[in-house]
Amino acid sequence: MPTLLHLDSSADLTGSVSRELTARFAAAWSALGPAHVVVRRDLHSDPLPHLPTNALHWAPRLRRPGQSVPPEAEALQDRLIQELIPADAVVIGAPMYNWSMPSTLKAWVDYVQVGGTTSPFDEPTQPLAGTPVVIVSSRGGQYGPGSGNEGTEHGVPALQQALGGALGMQVTVVIAELTLAPTVEAMAPLRDRADANLQQARSSIDELAARLGADA
Ligand SMILES: Cc1cc2nc3c(=O)[nH]c(=O)nc-3n(C[C@H](O)[C@H](O)[C@H](O)COP(=O)(O)O)c2cc1C
Repeated sequence: MPTLLHLDSSADLTGSVSRELTARFAAAWSALGPAHVVVRRDLHSDPLPHLPTNALHWAPRLRRPGQSVPPEAEALQDRLIQELIPADAVVIGAPMYNWSMPSTLKAWVDYVQVGGTTSPFDEPTQPLAGTPVVIVSSRGGQYGPGSGNEGTEHGVPALQQALGGALGMQVTVVIAELTLAPTVEAMAPLRDRADANLQQARSSIDELAARLGADA
């Protein structure tokens, strides 16, 4: 069964751009046929606790002697990793919060990027190598070349490094910029650009869902 793991982390449950785009991806995936299934995790509505111990960052054989891990935390980590590994594709809503990602999404990354289990450490372990992941980055402002903010967006680079670099996943980033323009009066001159950007993001989502769903 071609399985999509659909993650959201926006704290906005009514007007979120990233939620709109990830839902669009999931709907397009499901529309490919009854065998195309979606596993959903809302990291905002059902937040993960912070890692209770650094030991969870490594496979059990790599932990310091005597380090103890609460069994429920170990079980949660196993559940998250076992939800991720079988996915044929992953779509992640990653709004820009304070030049980075929401802490709810960062907590998920901290559970699943595990040396010796999901990423290479003492052995070339990389069970997610090649799995496509689509990161949907929504930002209130603009961060491209010439915007004056270039290089200050730190959420997407961290996700690319953790998911693409460490886990070996095949990362595609879809960006929706200027999301505050429709509601912030001072950004009114940027509304056309914001609208064009959102339309472009929607088309990218449609194309990616159709292609990755057909390949799965
Ligand atoms: C806690 C918080 C921090 C934010 N920090 C930034 C920021 O650093 N840069 C920015 O351009 N927009 C920032 N915004 C605006 C959001 O990026 C923007 O509203 C975006 O659309 C949120 O994604 P969503 O629409 O999926 O909820 C912030 C919003 C919140 C709630």
